[in-house]
Amino acid sequence: MNCEFLRNRLNPTFCEFINTFLLFKTWEAFEICSILFKAKRERFSKVIGRYLKGGSVLAKVLSSAVIGIDAFLVEVEVDITSGLPTFTTVGLPEASVKESKERVKSAINNSGYRFPDDRITVNLAPANIKKEGTGFDLPIALGILAATQIIPQQIVSKYLVLGELSLDGRIKPVKGSLPMALAAKSAGYAGIIVPYDNGREASVVEDITVLPLKTLSQLVSFFRGFAQIKPEKTDISTIFKDSRGFEVDFSEVRGQEHVKRSLEVAAAGGHNLIMIGPPGSGKTMLAKRLPTILPPLTFEEAIETTKIFSVVGILAKDQALITKRPFRSPHHTISDAGLIGGGHIPRPGEVSMAHNGVLFLDELSEFKKHVLEVLRQPLEDTKVTISRAALTITYPSSFMLVAAMNPCPCGYFSDPKHECRCTYPQIRRFRSKISGPLMDRIDIHVEVPAVAYKDLRGEADAESSGEIRARVTAARERQSERFKRTKIYSNAQMISRHIKKHCKIDEASCNILESAIDKLGLSARAYNRILKIARTIADLDGESDISVDHISEAVQYRNLDRGKRFV
Ligand SMILES: Nc1ncnc2c1ncn2[C@@H]1O[C@H](COP(=O)(O)OP(=O)(O)O)[C@@H](O)[C@H]1O
Ligand SMILES: [Mg+2]
Repeated sequence: MNCEFLRNRLNPTFCEFINTFLLFKTWEAFEICSILFKAKRERFSKVIGRYLKGGSVLAKVLSSAVIGIDAFLVEVEVDITSGLPTFTTVGLPEASVKESKERVKSAINNSGYRFPDDRITVNLAPANIKKEGTGFDLPIALGILAATQIIPQQIVSKYLVLGELSLDGRIKPVKGSLPMALAAKSAGYAGIIVPYDNGREASVVEDITVLPLKTLSQLVSFFRGFAQIKPEKTDISTIFKDSRGFEVDFSEVRGQEHVKRSLEVAAAGGHNLIMIGPPGSGKTMLAKRLPTILPPLTFEEAIETTKIFSVVGILAKDQALITKRPFRSPHHTISDAGLIGGGHIPRPGEVSMAHNGVLFLDELSEFKKHVLEVLRQPLEDTKVTISRAALTITYPSSFMLVAAMNPCPCGYFSDPKHECRCTYPQIRRFRSKISGPLMDRIDIHVEVPAVAYKDLRGEADAESSGEIRARVTAARERQSERFKRTKIYSNAQMISRHIKKHCKIDEASCNILESAIDKLGLSARAYNRILKIARTIADLDGESDISVDHISEAVQYRNLDRGKRFV
């Protein structure tokens, strides 16, 4: 213990008073000194009393941590006792939280305050849940400053605080500020103090004051009443309005009308789709335009998707909300942990980042087989559960799968203009990389032939994404009405029970289906798929009954089931 301890608590004008007091270190000395220097006795007697008794000073700051995509509250307790200088953090801190003491110490010192040379104990309660990340730096620093009475504890307790500190006292962005702001609101806090770059993201939550800050000293001035901070505000409706435009459009794609139609059907019913065609036929180009014809995100969907982006920490700093459906296109070298999520403390993978949007697997046959296998659970359950020794986390993963691949190793199988040099065993091996169970979950198969020259040259502009989106949205609305009282919301999610109820077909359609299954060699698994797709096509037409036309079109989308032609 030395005079620094006291100096931290006092206005510099009283330093002389303190130095005199420290010469004697007794109550008598304090009395005499306070008379001599006309000091404010009441204000300092408490601190000096504690010092003389060797007691401890406790401060509490509220913060938050994230499990999965939801946040829980964490109470950061800071206890300062006289003794040899130590800094201990308890409450299951991971490495990044343990390292926080070095950042906090430098940040406090470099912001012009004194870091106490005492025994400091930081407890992160609830103490039985592992804490990770750098967001506790700022609450710990504030706890220390409150315990040393540089800032008043009563005001600090009104806010939930998060932020990483750099050594010079700047506040840096953290992951998960949106779920944390939601947690602060439901816990009834007046406000949340966030790093400046996270301000937009946290301000999406209504009825809570979001105070974005750049430096520790700015925050101290605010708590001491010397500075004001402008709360961040976001008008949700304008963000949604501004986000209508897309950089790409379907009208840029020449020809390929049947592929566009299949993408429209897939978008309308939420069906998974695979495109097979030679290189350069426009598969990637078409897939990238799929989000432009999907119905706009609802506010709830936008919040869910934004929460995942916030937890991963990939929201741009000026972005408050993800308002467009995500389009994720992982490279084929991705690992299974990268795809479905993983790590010591499991992080969301690409399937979760594509939540409420599109997961595009380009060059599907290049992906490792075991990586594709792990896709089965998220495709089936629309969520992924990852278990690790530390904890088990579930992330949502409701996405549309779109895949693209060449028909054979050289890429020119069935292309009239190029000769394919692959042997049948080579083609079979190439196709067998994609397992049956994965194929089973893909409703629509479509061949994408090379574009004809006359189509490429065509002057007339093709139909725009907006026009297609209007039809898709109308079809989706019909489905929402149909599945109002169920847990599903799109035709693709129907199980046998729903198919029986909603996909009744007449005699003529039955005959077509029968001959398709018998003559074209369609597999039994194709049967239900065709009915589901036919239901979506009928919805696009605004028809309540499935007709022969709908069934006939649906049969065309089961290319890969046709006998021995593929696989
Ligand atoms: N139907 C099309 N209309 C206009 N441009 C096309 C079309 N198909 C291909 N292209 C052009 O060819 C390029 C390559 O297409 P891409 O989508 O990468 O083919 P793939 O993925 O099938 O190999 C595109 O970027 C685009 O410029
Ligand atoms: Mg491609």
